[in-house]
Amino acid sequence: MSEYIIETKDLSFNYPDGTKALKNVNIKIEKGKKISFIGVNGSGKSTLFLNFNGVLKPNSGDLVYKGDVVKYNSKSLLQLRKKCRNSISRSRKPTFF
Ligand SMILES: Nc1ncnc2c1ncn2[C@@H]1O[C@H](COP(=O)(O)OP(=O)(O)OP(=O)(O)O)[C@@H](O)[C@H]1O
Ligand SMILES: [Mg+2]
Repeated sequence: MSEYIIETKDLSFNYPDGTKALKNVNIKIEKGKKISFIGVNGSGKSTLFLNFNGVLKPNSGDLVYKGDVVKYNSKSLLQLRKKCRNSISRSRKPTFF
């Protein structure tokens, strides 16, 4: 059975000006896989990653990291960023997780 490091479940994000940047995004990223995000300008790649790292909070839906739903409060975001920072410094490669 696959182990997913990141999942999104019907994740949607709208900017304050009303721009609907992400609508019901469902993805599953398997642990250890190298993947690319490819899309035309404005398709939402950067917005998705800003939701991944907690700079932006989804309007609806869930982000799941290592099986746990990210709650986007300051305590859980601090824990998430510590995990990511440790992974980056150990790998010596420009790896996000
Ligand atoms: N701060 C913002 N306020 C309002 N709308 C925004 C903002 N940032 C991005 N958008 C809009 O959100 C949508 C997604 O943009 P985003 O920057 O995530 O796309 P992208 O795939 O990263 O594009 P690019 O390939 O140009 O980097 C676009 O319609 C964009 O115009
Ligand atoms: Mg971008």
